[in-house]
Amino acid sequence: MGGHTIGVLGATGHTGRRVCSVLERSECRWIGAARAPSRFALPAPAAPRRGGSAQPVPRSRSTRSEIVAADATDRDSLDRFLDRVDLVINCAGPYTELGLPVAQAALSAGVHLLDLSGEQVYVRECEQLDEGASRSGVVLGNAMGVEVALSDCAAALAARGLSAIEGIRVAGAVSGFRTSRASRMSALEAIWGEGVRRTGGRFERAAVAHESRQFDLHAPFGVSTCAWYPGVEILTIPRHLSAATVATYIRVPAVASAPLKWMGAAAALPLRLASASDHMAGFGGNGGSGMARKGLRRCLRLVRNAAGRLGGEPCTERPSPFEIRVEVLGRGTSGIEYRGVSVLGRDPYGLSAEIVVRSALRLLEHGPAVGRGGVLAPAQVVDPGWLFSVLEPLDGYDLEVRDLEERNRDSQPPQAPGSESR
Ligand SMILES: NC(=O)c1ccc[n+]([C@@H]2O[C@H](COP(=O)([O-])OP(=O)(O)OC[C@H]3O[C@@H](n4cnc5c(N)ncnc54)[C@H](OP(=O)(O)O)[C@@H]3O)[C@@H](O)[C@H]2O)c1
Repeated sequence: MGGHTIGVLGATGHTGRRVCSVLERSECRWIGAARAPSRFALPAPAAPRRGGSAQPVPRSRSTRSEIVAADATDRDSLDRFLDRVDLVINCAGPYTELGLPVAQAALSAGVHLLDLSGEQVYVRECEQLDEGASRSGVVLGNAMGVEVALSDCAAALAARGLSAIEGIRVAGAVSGFRTSRASRMSALEAIWGEGVRRTGGRFERAAVAHESRQFDLHAPFGVSTCAWYPGVEILTIPRHLSAATVATYIRVPAVASAPLKWMGAAAALPLRLASASDHMAGFGGNGGSGMARKGLRRCLRLVRNAAGRLGGEPCTERPSPFEIRVEVLGRGTSGIEYRGVSVLGRDPYGLSAEIVVRSALRLLEHGPAVGRGGVLAPAQVVDPGWLFSVLEPLDGYDLEVRDLEERNRDSQPPQAPGSESR
């Protein structure tokens, strides 16, 4: 791996430790950074899995690695850490609270950054850094985890050869999944009323679960009810595909879709009311600068942090199966065409670590797939075909990309995503 050094911020977290473990297996030099470096330990080796042996897990760190102190809220400590690395993998979440200062520091230091965000607010904030990153050739790569990177890349593959894309739908399902503390906080952050949807070429606010629809997924999921949620793909896919409509859904129990719709509307209400009150007081609340809005966000974060601490840690013994379905409707050589791709696999956290590390190594060796710096989508950081070709053979994740054209050949093409909600 030449003379490159990769940094991992948030090295003590569930994902950060697995990222360090993948780096330890590579030939790369790496530096883990944490608020309390003494708490760092590589993850314990997992039991062998059905369908393949687990990736070997190193038991102790090599001399190619180091653990240092750094805090996302302390710019000096960040600068000292970034000064020693060529690329930083940011695993310190939730990103809406911690992500932007790290991206700003990486840009100032001229260091590429890859994150695993799933929060629209943070990803939208990053866009203000695009001009500076493009100018200096620095890559700020958002959302390089299972959630987003796989669907973003699958959408790019499915859309190849289509000249005008009317709509893209992404549906995700996971079974028996236990989330980490920061993931729970990130999820709560996402549902509190700041969601953006893309419809007819425009971005507009939308509440969680304002619509749901059915997807015919593979086993073990089958025909599933999926509710709309503010996925980051809504922001990343339009960075590389001119799709008029992009909608993201998550599998929910069928009986929950109606209650979730009401809960989503209720969750969105406080911030809307705060925006309206700021607007009336002349504070321009829609930009997030109003006093009522800021105060409310602070309260919501306290609740979110408390709620995020409840619940256990992810289980590495029984890795959860997942499916990501991507459907694209666009103009091909024979008129309007439907393209469907399903990505199936297991162990979302372990696979996220593989995705972000392999993308980091690729980026350092070959540069970004899109050939320029900037705030990039996963499919712009690495070539989507290359990403799946390195992930599919890995033991323990059972990753498989299934083309759905055959399955849907005899069925009517679906309506444009977003036009047939229940
Ligand atoms: N998109 C995807 O597919 C995907 C996949 C995996 C993870 N993620 C995201 O990645 C993030 C991390 O996940 P996780 O599983 O590692 O969560 P986690 O186990 O709760 O770990 C959070 C990490 O952030 C660190 N941290 C918190 N505040 C910090 C600060 N001020 N400065 C530096 N580090 C700080 C924590 O350090 P301490 O040990 O000091 O508390 C810990 O190392 C979450 O936002 C999650 O949603 C996304």
